[in-house]
Amino acid sequence: MRRASKDALDLLRHPSRLATLAPQDDEWDNVDRLTIEMIAADLPAALRVALEQMAQGLSRNDAATRAATISRTYRDGGNSSTIKTDSDALAYALARMPATYAAVAASLNALGEARPDFAPHNLLDAGAGPGTATWAATQAYASLATLNLLDANTALRALAMQIATASERIIAYEHGDVRSQLAAMPDADLVIASYVIGELDAATRTSLAATLWRKTRDVLLIVEPGTPAGYARIMEVRGQLIAQGAHVIAPCPHDRACPLVQPDWCHFVQRLARSRAHKQLKGAELPFEDEKFIYVALSRTQPTTRAARVLAQPDISKVAIRAKLCTGDGVALATAPRRDKAAYARFRKLDWGDTVPSVEGAD
Ligand SMILES: C[S@@+](CC[C@H](N)C(=O)[O-])C[C@H]1O[C@@H](n2cnc3c(N)ncnc32)[C@H](O)[C@@H]1O
Repeated sequence: MRRASKDALDLLRHPSRLATLAPQDDEWDNVDRLTIEMIAADLPAALRVALEQMAQGLSRNDAATRAATISRTYRDGGNSSTIKTDSDALAYALARMPATYAAVAASLNALGEARPDFAPHNLLDAGAGPGTATWAATQAYASLATLNLLDANTALRALAMQIATASERIIAYEHGDVRSQLAAMPDADLVIASYVIGELDAATRTSLAATLWRKTRDVLLIVEPGTPAGYARIMEVRGQLIAQGAHVIAPCPHDRACPLVQPDWCHFVQRLARSRAHKQLKGAELPFEDEKFIYVALSRTQPTTRAARVLAQPDISKVAIRAKLCTGDGVALATAPRRDKAAYARFRKLDWGDTVPSVEGAD
């Protein structure tokens, strides 16, 4: 776990004094040496191969049209109910699974960093769709032995089962509505709802959040698109569950209300490579795409350390690097002047979404 020296902690705890992080700080050097196993943003080979095999014989134009219709529905505030046939499900998976996988993978990496001791044995993936979050979770946690999934969409469930068979993976995938069936699903050490709560109305979200939390033995991870509306939904659930005893383990270094003020909103970005087929399907030129996402990982266990989080890509100028941080005391701007070579070098390594040495005992 990352730890900072007293001086660095002091600077982080008192944003007004955030000027330069002590360049001689040994603890920051330790940060460079700490290796936390991160999973890649790109789809695992077995999943990619299974999807490619299923896509054989599929008309790219037809798949592109279906994917565009589904995307348009989402953009217009609709939901996945337009995914009706096997071809719709496959088009959706080919177009969207790489990005939602990348967002869940990044969220799981943040969770792993906050809780390196966490080794869940069972997973509950609510609104699992094609099984995206389950794939990411099994990449992140070799300890997972039981995988329970639930979704109401027949075509997406069928696709997930087909992918699982092709990759010789055992999953228990229930077909049903989270509103009525989630309570009957087994409890799990890790519960995930990825890109799901945005498909539900406010009242349903509130009752679903409570049920998700009841099913959670240790960690609940909720991931949403990184839009102001996605952020608002995450904040709503975060507040509700903190009031029920949950502790935030990522991304926030506190359980207080979010210190960001509108029109600012907390979100992160994950870059992922686009294959040739993916580019064709999306009618895109760029060989990569940036998925904006927001997440919250809540635990029944209070964290012992909480790291400040980088809230935007640090700003690099000729004179200094400035990083916007969420700390236990609110939002702070940390500055590393160029003349301070060691601090500057450390700040150069910071990316949006990273943590900086944690503040022991912070709340
Ligand atoms: C955008 S997809 C996300 C799927 C998957 N979690 C992922 O990250 O790729 C939303 C999923 O939520 C499911 N969903 C929405 N409302 C639901 C409900 N009331 N009961 C069960 N599943 C639901 C949809 O069927 C769909 O599979």
